[in-house]
Amino acid sequence: VVNKMIIASNFKTNHTRKSTREYLIKLNNFISEKSISNIDIMVFPPSVAFDNFKDFNKHIDIGAQNAYHTIRGSFTGDIGKEHLDEFNINSILIGHSERRTIFNETQDLIDLKFKFYSSYGFKIIYCIGEPLEIKEQGIEKTIDYLENQLKSIDLDYKNLIIAYEPIWAIGTGKTATLNDIDEVHTRLKNIIDKPILYGGSVKACNSKDITDIKNVDGLLIGTASWNIDDFCRIIDIVNL
Ligand code: 13P
Repeated sequence: VVNKMIIASNFKTNHTRKSTREYLIKLNNFISEKSISNIDIMVFPPSVAFDNFKDFNKHIDIGAQNAYHTIRGSFTGDIGKEHLDEFNINSILIGHSERRTIFNETQDLIDLKFKFYSSYGFKIIYCIGEPLEIKEQGIEKTIDYLENQLKSIDLDYKNLIIAYEPIWAIGTGKTATLNDIDEVHTRLKNIIDKPILYGGSVKACNSKDITDIKNVDGLLIGTASWNIDDFCRIIDIVNL
């Protein structure tokens, strides 16, 4: 069985509830009109934009960018599983580099989130990626670093998707070269038999070249996905 390509948009701290709804309506219409059936589309809005999209959403898997490993409780400023259940959200990003670096999420905390949300069967996009100083030390050091981020999670978990996002390529306009991506994804596939998405300055002009790489199973896109027309264009290009 050939896995479907996965294209995911991470809104990060962009879009309100109102603009998220407008975006998702346009995206659904686009997928219907183009009869796109061989790509799974995922969108990760900020949690304040969660809503009941059931009245129109037929095509898009809506996920959470982050949540605490609890159903509910005293965790000021955070959300729990109950808040995801209210909107039938069963997908979550775990280990994004912005969570790791800006919010100081440790691997221990990430492991707890992984254990908790996997115990409920969530689809988990688990993000890994090396900083520039590791990349500059070469491929073996890079793979060691990535393996270290993988070693404490259950790599056999059935709803696991990996996103390889080199930190130096996120939001910088510096995409990894096709050779870099090919090499890292090929090495990762020897370690883990799961879909592996690439993320980091993906845009319309490089999306097809990246998804054409053998061991790339999809894309996790930030900046270039926030405008609905740009995101539709990328889906269109990858679908060709
Ligand atoms: P950019 O596409 O803005 O580089 O962000 C990538 C990313 O972090 C997606 O999760």
